Amino acid sequence: MDFKRKHLLELKGSTREEISLILDTAESFKEVLTRPIPKVPTLRGKTVVNLFFESSTRTRISFELAEKRLSADSVNFTASGSSLSKGETLRDTARNIEAMKIDMVVIRHCAAGAPHFLTQCVEASIINAGDGQHEHPTQGLLDLMTLRDKFKTLEGLNVAIIGDIAHSRVARSNIYGLQAMGAKVALCGPPTLIPLEAQDWGTEIFLKLDEALEWANVLNVLRLQLERQQRGLFPSIREYHRLYGITRQRLEQCKKEVTILHPGPINRGVEIESELADSEYSLILNQVTNGVAVRMAVLYLLSGGKGSEELEAE
Ligand code: CP
Repeated sequence: MDFKRKHLLELKGSTREEISLILDTAESFKEVLTRPIPKVPTLRGKTVVNLFFESSTRTRISFELAEKRLSADSVNFTASGSSLSKGETLRDTARNIEAMKIDMVVIRHCAAGAPHFLTQCVEASIINAGDGQHEHPTQGLLDLMTLRDKFKTLEGLNVAIIGDIAHSRVARSNIYGLQAMGAKVALCGPPTLIPLEAQDWGTEIFLKLDEALEWANVLNVLRLQLERQQRGLFPSIREYHRLYGITRQRLEQCKKEVTILHPGPINRGVEIESELADSEYSLILNQVTNGVAVRMAVLYLLSGGKGSEELEAE
């Protein structure tokens, strides 16, 4: 199957075949990353610009690494120190960078829809690295890859997304991606952090954490996005941890095997007990490792690559 999309803006509307192609391709690149020289010439001659208007550790570094591992030329743009401070618009910034002959743009922006907007301003392929509260598709894909590595299939898996659903782009990408792959999804958090639109997402909704723990094979634990929240959505951080914080004691009470994901950054002692984040339950660092392979796969497929069979034939 060929990957027919020019951009990766969201997982909403993605098919099982498209997601499987990305994940299978990522597995081939994961093998490349274990070699003594973890680099292939696949994107030699291509230029990628990383436009980050919001802070990032994992996503920015793993896109940069993915580009280097594929032998692309890459350039990094951060909002601070740019001509945005002199009043230049996003459109003008992107068009000026494109005039320097680039092939792909990776963008993180606080405004939902900024990557879609860029598709109308420039000819380059656009990859969404997180836009406001909308989506974070490569995070969703690396979460799917991590679960598929562990469970072999996503079909029939019960994944509970816990915490601040309302402000989370990771939650949206996970819901669309997991459902496309046949997993069942539940949301759990205080009612004030579950948006009204969740009723249309086809998920279970649990307001009590113990009910979600009883139901789930996997917990995807989210950070409270305090930078995006209005005040007064829950009484205090301490109260939130008491009601929704994931602790070893709570997991052991439900007497079954549960796998924990977290997109990072973690607020230890708030949404998850610090020790548990590093425990045998956790696949958090596997997610980070898979992030490089997934981003290599996305960059390669959007450049016209055909997938893992072509890579194996090389
Ligand atoms: N998961 C994630 O997007 O992390 P960063 O904000 O560090 O990129």
